[in-house]
Amino acid sequence: MVPASAALLTEPWVRAAYPVLDEVTYLNVGTYGLMPQPALAEYQSLLAEAEQRGGFSSGRAQRQAESTRARLAALVGAEADEIAFTRNATDGINLVLAGLRWRPGDEVITSDQEHEAMVHPLAYLARTQGLVVRRVALSADPDIMLEALDAVLTPRTRLVALSLVTCETGTRLPGRQVSQWAAAHGLLCLLDGAQASGAIDVDVQHLACDFYASNGHKWLSGPKGTGFFYARRDRLAELAPAHVGAGSLLRVDLAGGVAEACASGQRFEFGTRSWPLLAGLGASLDWFEHLGWQRVYAHVEALSDCLKQEIEARPFLRLLTPRAFGQSAGLVSFGLAGCPAGEVVSALRQRWSLYARFVPHYDAVRISTAHFNNPADLQRLLAALECLHGEQHAPSPAPAP
Ligand SMILES: Cc1ncc(COP(=O)(O)O)c(C=O)c1O
Repeated sequence: MVPASAALLTEPWVRAAYPVLDEVTYLNVGTYGLMPQPALAEYQSLLAEAEQRGGFSSGRAQRQAESTRARLAALVGAEADEIAFTRNATDGINLVLAGLRWRPGDEVITSDQEHEAMVHPLAYLARTQGLVVRRVALSADPDIMLEALDAVLTPRTRLVALSLVTCETGTRLPGRQVSQWAAAHGLLCLLDGAQASGAIDVDVQHLACDFYASNGHKWLSGPKGTGFFYARRDRLAELAPAHVGAGSLLRVDLAGGVAEACASGQRFEFGTRSWPLLAGLGASLDWFEHLGWQRVYAHVEALSDCLKQEIEARPFLRLLTPRAFGQSAGLVSFGLAGCPAGEVVSALRQRWSLYARFVPHYDAVRISTAHFNNPADLQRLLAALECLHGEQHAPSPAPAP
């Protein structure tokens, strides 16, 4: 295998922070991320303090949670008050879809490559509120994508809701062009960044989107149950929180009929929450900041490029992800001639302790090239695929005489 490039993170302590890598080849942070040991230790210590000491604890977790908000904001080029903590990316998507006031017959444009996180809330609104959902074929090519959007635009269209990086083929949307197209037509634009943040450099100012939803538990290596949501400051007020409580309202007067939601992302946060969880995400951000985000992105890109090159060199493999990194991110999906992908993924797990994801819709295998993966992980994957392909084509044993 051609070494991916000098861009790789080669410090031995990076892999050492993930002890499970001694047992398995883990190529699936696109489903479940792994927490690095130092971040996990910090999270566990904060959790122990908060849960064992309650109101007698130092308040460290709460302070660190607020610092997490500021750093998530910096990560995506937003201001801290434009960020709301959520439980996952789906939560953020719902803040928009349930927060806009729909009239029956209003239309949303989405794509044919969306995750259930988008499809299910849209289907629910279609059934309960008469929303009309128009699906276009998603393309990384801006001209093709804008042409597809033009074709379904009607006077009732209000929102464009798309993945910035799709779950199954790992295609990267031309997000800026799409957002600008939406703005030019007076529409709102929501981008689902579940497979983007932590894998590629995301800047919501550059993307020019109105809303961006992501999670902390995949490419950001944070604890499960963490996510964040960005709404451009001047768009926040357009989202009516479906749930409110202590913390989300600025002024309340039950007798006077006053219930004014916070002007910041905190309008979506209320009640007692797990500060250690949010601070735990902050500890994972510490890890990446220490490594350097640009080095992390360069590593993901170098491994992704390397894997695509190797896939293309093997005629029995069919690459589904766009070849150019600018049109993709950290996911690489491919099919294997003559082998159902579900069986391939099971065999990889059972015979080689290698974790990948099955993509049923495309009968494909999906690989995530994370910052802790290395060329040897890819080499093991390719050797296993060659073995499976060889077995597929091995002559059947001669019949007994
Ligand atoms: C593109 C995309 N959107 C949304 C999700 C759901 O993310 P979460 O579980 O954080 O809601 C996923 C998960 O795989 C995804 O790939």
